[in-house]
Amino acid sequence: MDRLAVEIAGVTFRNPVFLASGIWGESGLSLGRAFRDGAGAVITKSIGPVPREGYPNPTVVELGEWGLINAMGLPNPGIENYKEEIAIARKDGAAVVGSLFGANPEEFAAIAKVMEHSGAVSLELNLSCPHAKGLGSEIGQDPKALSEVIVAVKKSVRIPVWAKLTPNTHDPGALAEAAVKAGADAISAINTVRAMAISSKAMRPVLSHGLGGLSGPAVKPVGLACVWQIYERVKAPIVGIGGITTGEDAFEYVLAGASAVEVGTALSQKGAGLFREVCAGLEAQIKEHGFSSVKEAVGAAHRK
Ligand code: DHB
Repeated sequence: MDRLAVEIAGVTFRNPVFLASGIWGESGLSLGRAFRDGAGAVITKSIGPVPREGYPNPTVVELGEWGLINAMGLPNPGIENYKEEIAIARKDGAAVVGSLFGANPEEFAAIAKVMEHSGAVSLELNLSCPHAKGLGSEIGQDPKALSEVIVAVKKSVRIPVWAKLTPNTHDPGALAEAAVKAGADAISAINTVRAMAISSKAMRPVLSHGLGGLSGPAVKPVGLACVWQIYERVKAPIVGIGGITTGEDAFEYVLAGASAVEVGTALSQKGAGLFREVCAGLEAQIKEHGFSSVKEAVGAAHRK
């Protein structure tokens, strides 16, 4: 598996296929299980400063082969109740990346510190949830607000900080540049694409919240374009996310500029065998195209 080991901002992961935030990250046990199932790293559910219920049902709309739209409303138990889960997953041997959100730089910085103390090996800032008032992409679409969050988090922790960016912007490269200037060690891209489902029968939006985020195969071309544009603007490593179901999908992200990838929506259809399947498929692609490591293939499509 050495051909697959990757380094993101000084942290080495055994392979570049990670569990995306929001999928199976509710508990230390579920994070540990995903790691045992072959994930190179496991990203927690996004955790906020205090317990949050989220939106009432319906919170998910299935779109068949396209993927799904969800608006959960960032439900989570709050960092004080969640920190033990990180410690449990760490004891289980998992490489845990803490995903967090807040309403301001101080909230982000405080949660980040607790996550670091609980054993997270890196952090992924959710600056990109597409529909939560005053949170997520409302901060992450504004380079100044995004920078302030990153500066505050970087002051409060020593572990690497990844900024998870939104595709709901006209210039993802500019957001990435602002993030790196503020101190981000890596960029994760993309979060979900703002979307909506309308029921013609009920003549109203399907989700209780109305707006949601689209994920799954339908967003892969959007993710690839964002990673491509970000790679052209920053030197920081990129973690590619969006519609990855196969090793070939992962390889396409690597060619666009990603050093690692995250899988999420596909897990609900394919199950936990997916990590090993995508790893094996990616390794086959790397070999077939004459590369000796993932690192060597990163951004190769830009050099063609
Ligand atoms: C939610 C959060 C996200 O970051 C996202 O992309 C989609 C949904 C949520 O909790 O609702």
